[in-house]
This record gives sequence, structure tokens and C-alpha cells, in this order.
Amino acid sequence: LRIAVFASGSGSNFQAIADAAMAGRLDARIELLVCDRPKAGVVERAKQAGVPVHTFRPKDYDSRETYEREILAILQQKQVELVVLAGYMRIVTKVLVDAYWGRMLNIHPSLLPSFPGLDAIGQALRHGVKVTGVTVHLVDGGLDSGPILAQRALDIAPGDTEASVAERIHRIEHRLYPEVIQAIATGSIRLEDAANKPKEDGT
Ligand code: GRF
Repeated sequence: LRIAVFASGSGSNFQAIADAAMAGRLDARIELLVCDRPKAGVVERAKQAGVPVHTFRPKDYDSRETYEREILAILQQKQVELVVLAGYMRIVTKVLVDAYWGRMLNIHPSLLPSFPGLDAIGQALRHGVKVTGVTVHLVDGGLDSGPILAQRALDIAPGDTEASVAERIHRIEHRLYPEVIQAIATGSIRLEDAANKPKEDGT
């Protein structure tokens, strides 16, 4: 399976996927890292892993669609089959969503549909929930809103802080994301089924 990872930050999820591929636990190859922050830690990780990198600065472009068309051309040239968002801090527009509908994943640090958007762990703690978790879902045009592919739950204990929960969430993410990608590669998760599932509102 030919995949591209999109990330904006430290890239620990990128690393987990790259490590799983290197260890032979993943029938997938990372063909490209796409990063909107040229100085992000994930760029160095990609270089270390020998993964080609495409960085860009959004402000150099007149619109999101313009930089996404450039990205799409590279994805097509590299025959990327699956796009994996891993801490990519930008809204994805129709340009990429339509081209990769049903073939673009995101990982989010809450049990969606609870707590979409920024600071999901902080939102969950402020709300006082006793259970939170991690969701992997297909990307549609909305904010953390596409069909859900996999979830893992974790308990929040009385003494927990944002840092302690974030650490446990990351550990879960680093196992779950490679597992989901492998399940897609082997066909035990069928993306066509998830992509064709009617939404709750029946549309
Ligand atoms: C992860 O917690 C992911 O759920 C969220 O962004 C974070 C990325 O972390 N979407 P990292 O850059 O992979 O370390």
C-alpha cells in the first residue's frame, strides 16, 4: 500500500507508522511526508527515515486550493493510494477530499463525535468526562466528522492532568494507527463500506 503522511508538528505518529513499516509490521510504504511547517520536528524524522518530504508555507499561496492542487499533483505522480493525516493542523478542502474520498484517514484524540477540533484532551478534561480515547476516521469536508473506522477508550482518573492523559493517548495512537493502516492493507477494514455508509441524518 502506497501511503502519504501529512503532519504539522513533532510527528510521533509519523514515527510510529515509519517504525512499523521498517519492522515489517505494515504492508505499506510511506512515499511522501507533506508538512505545512518547514521547521516542524516531523521533517527531521522523515529525513532520518529516508522518506521524501514536501514542505510548503501556506502564506506563500493565494488560497488553500492552490497549495492543495500542487500537493495533489505530487500524490498522483507518486501513485499514493492512501493519505494519512497525523497531526496535520489544517482544514482540508474539496480539492483533496474529493480526489481522496474514502482513502484519507485522520486520527483524533477523543471519542468522536465528542470533542472535535482543537485541544480535544483539554476539552474532555474540562468537561469532566471519566472516559475518553482515540478515533481514526475517514476525512470528509467537516471538522473531525467523517465515518469512524476504529476507536480505543481510556479511563480518566481523579489525579490526571492534561499531560498525563496526553501521554496515554499518544501511546494508544502509536499502536492504533499502524494497526488500522495494516487492517486496510490486508482488507480486514474495507474503506468502501465506511465511505458508502449513510450518515446519521439519512443523506
Ligand atoms: C495527535 O495527538 C493526534 O491525535 C492529533 O495531533 C497529535 C499529533 O501528534 N491529531 P504527533 O505530531 O504525531 O506527535
